[in-house]
Amino acid sequence: VEAVIAAKDGGWGSRYALMIGCSAVCLGTDMKLALPSSLENHYEMLRLLYTGCQVIHGNLEITHLQGTPDLSFLQGIVEVQGYVLIAHVSVAEIPLTNLRIIRGGRLYNSSYALAVLENTGIKELQLRSLTEILLGGVYILGNPQLCYPQQINWIDGDVFVAALGQPCPAACGSRGCWGRTADDCQTLTHVQCMSGCQYCKGPQASDCCHDQCAAGCSGPKNSDCLACHNFNDSGTCKESCPLVMLYDIKTHQLIPNPNKKFIFGIICVKQCPYNFLTTYSACTRVCPKGNQEVITIHPDGKEMQKCEQCEGECPEVCYGLGMGNLQGVSAVNSSNIGFFQGCKKIYGSLAFLPQSFKADPLTNLTSLQAADLEVFRTLEEITGYLYIDAWPENSGDLGVFENLKVIRGRMLYK
Ligand SMILES: *[C@@H]1O[C@H](CO)[C@@H](O)[C@H](O)[C@H]1NC(C)=O
Ligand SMILES: *[C@@H]1O[C@H](CO)[C@@H](O)[C@H](O)[C@H]1NC(C)=O
Ligand SMILES: *[C@@H]1O[C@H](CO)[C@@H](O)[C@H](O)[C@H]1NC(C)=O
Ligand SMILES: *[C@@H]1O[C@H](CO)[C@@H](O)[C@H](O)[C@H]1NC(C)=O
Repeated sequence: VEAVIAAKDGGWGSRYALMIGCSAVCLGTDMKLALPSSLENHYEMLRLLYTGCQVIHGNLEITHLQGTPDLSFLQGIVEVQGYVLIAHVSVAEIPLTNLRIIRGGRLYNSSYALAVLENTGIKELQLRSLTEILLGGVYILGNPQLCYPQQINWIDGDVFVAALGQPCPAACGSRGCWGRTADDCQTLTHVQCMSGCQYCKGPQASDCCHDQCAAGCSGPKNSDCLACHNFNDSGTCKESCPLVMLYDIKTHQLIPNPNKKFIFGIICVKQCPYNFLTTYSACTRVCPKGNQEVITIHPDGKEMQKCEQCEGECPEVCYGLGMGNLQGVSAVNSSNIGFFQGCKKIYGSLAFLPQSFKADPLTNLTSLQAADLEVFRTLEEITGYLYIDAWPENSGDLGVFENLKVIRGRMLYK
């Protein structure tokens, strides 16, 4: 991680903010409470991951921040598709002031879409734009200085909130609040709507939102939504992305749709972003079962990565850690290194940890030797990551990887 961060230009920042239309999508993290590198690097990593980011494809994990770092890069975030975790930070404020929706596509501890845990300095959450949590509960505990949120109407779900009982600003009236200013009053888009409309911007029938909206709206159309319930097709919320095939009622046949789009998270895209594989109708990081990965080079030199259905059995491929027969295995060792013999492309990752080079009499595991590593000499491509934390003392270089050309990073270490 530290080496990658050192290579700032063209590193995390540019790789991870994928421009889709006008909104930058970034991938988020899956670290939970871990601190994968030093404190300074951790702040720097968060800054690079989220600068310019509006939609987070995965989880937003804000952890291990100290002092008075500049966190203005969080202000651009509008939507999080996984969970939001704020933990073990000692700063006073987390300015997620524009976050509208947490979808809870993944939950912290299998339960929570929003978890705020053990932050010694935090006083305000400032989630003043948050109007929707689609799935999952809320857990706020162990923040000794947290004054707000107060009186927030959470609608429903499993909610546990412990905060000091600071009263809300008078301007909020009967509404709850996220902080000390009049701007921090809770925006209500769910309650006090005309019966029959799920979201609204006011109590009148004309204030009802379109039924494809989530979080609220600025008007009645499906292009006026604050967030989409299903898919966002260039700013219009729809039940599905434009289909691959259309039914032609004249000929009673399915015909290819020239305006088809692919599903990427909740966004409809004409082309899958860099490093994602295109399936029949969606963008993915791993091909579905019964499919194989095919890379074609267009005349303009651009690479197209696709999943194609195999005719019959799929050809055998070399799996790396985290995939196929090596799912759940954490390191290359003497009992699995044989699988890599002669491989040119590994679907998955490689990790060399101290235990790779230790013998374990209990499981009859011998220690990996420098000579064993020669199997990687043919290797040209890894779809996941390459992590080297240990290496034989008598092998002073990484020459066995001399033919390695691409590390795709579709899976990342920590
Ligand atoms: C998360 O789950 C673990 C193990 O089940 C438990 O020990 C821990 O208290 C949970 N944390 C929260 C915030 O619920
Ligand atoms: C839909 O995506 C566009 C960018 O493609 C973005 O500007 C817009 O805010 C999004 N709309 C919603 C409702 O999420
Ligand atoms: C060694 O590899 C085997 C087979 O892949 C795996 O089951 C085992 O857990 C590994 N052992 C260690 C210590 O990583
Ligand atoms: C280890 O090897 C010995 C001798 O080959 C064998 O008897 C024993 O069952 C093996 N143990 C395991 C855990 O595979």
